[in-house]
Amino acid sequence: RYLQEDNLSEECKKLLPILPKEKGWIGSYIYNYQGCWIPPRLLQGMIACQQRFQAEDSDIILVTTPKSGTTWLKSLLFALIYRVKHPIFEPNHPLLVKSPHVLVPFLEHTLYVDGQVPDFSTFTSPRLFATHVPFASLPKSVLDSKTKLVYLCRNPKDTFISMWHFANNLRLHHKDTSSIHEMFDLFCEGLSIYGPFWNHVLDYWKQSIENPNKVFFLMYEEIKEKPKIQLKRLAEFLKIPFSIEEENCGVVDEILRVCSFENLRSLEVNTNGKLSTGEGNKAFFRRGEIGDWRNYFTTEMNYKLNHIIEEKFQGSGLKF
Ligand code: A3P
Repeated sequence: RYLQEDNLSEECKKLLPILPKEKGWIGSYIYNYQGCWIPPRLLQGMIACQQRFQAEDSDIILVTTPKSGTTWLKSLLFALIYRVKHPIFEPNHPLLVKSPHVLVPFLEHTLYVDGQVPDFSTFTSPRLFATHVPFASLPKSVLDSKTKLVYLCRNPKDTFISMWHFANNLRLHHKDTSSIHEMFDLFCEGLSIYGPFWNHVLDYWKQSIENPNKVFFLMYEEIKEKPKIQLKRLAEFLKIPFSIEEENCGVVDEILRVCSFENLRSLEVNTNGKLSTGEGNKAFFRRGEIGDWRNYFTTEMNYKLNHIIEEKFQGSGLKF
């Protein structure tokens, strides 16, 4: 659905022919808008969001590169932020019955994808949203308000492998194939959804250094390695730190358990449920590990990506 070029707004239809265009991973085209490669429907959603989204000071927006663990951080943030309204020990906690993608909707993928005016009346404050939009393309009101941004990225090698699997899943419906090598070359050239990957990461990384009260920068690997420490840091950044009582009662551990890969993946909603776009929720839970790229990369691929990582991130202070 995200890839369809029909039923676009007049504005988007007029824009597409003048944008740089390349073949995407799954048979459709991606367009370069404001320096970022994006399929047409998401472009429509991004523009509508830029024009219409009115951020509130208390809003929290999760920004991620695709396949960096968005589903995981959506669930952690939801559990963390709404822990008074929805205590994590509740047997009917929303995360046990709804997909994290339903509980924390994407701005451009979901709320604004058809250029619609979303109904925010059901949202409780603080509102929690997600987006993959690069820093330069965020709606102005997000930057002008005190809205907080939580950014998540992941080692580019694992991100690529996760994307490749995800694209293969989508492609089943397209009956089209392209090899891991073709996709890898595109990724290296920056041609991936919301790519170039490095620009996305570096822009938010710089913002997190210049404006640490506004942008909190996280890596998938850091959460995997020290989940408790990272969740507590996140709570402090959002100014909702865990109390001693909460810690003693095991709230932090229980949030991590509920949001763990094993638990979320085994839930009925995430096994057999589907999003309104038709994607099966289970596509968002594959292996959930660090280093799966080793099972797929050739020596040449590793060499090539290492070289790009070195070139793009040198001097930034970021290590992958
Ligand atoms: P893999 O394909 O490497 O398994 P996104 O949510 O941004 O689409 O990212 C999906 C990736 O996050 C997938 O990686 C998926 O398995 C992993 N993932 C999903 N839920 C997770 C969780 N609770 N803990 C750790 N990883 C998780």
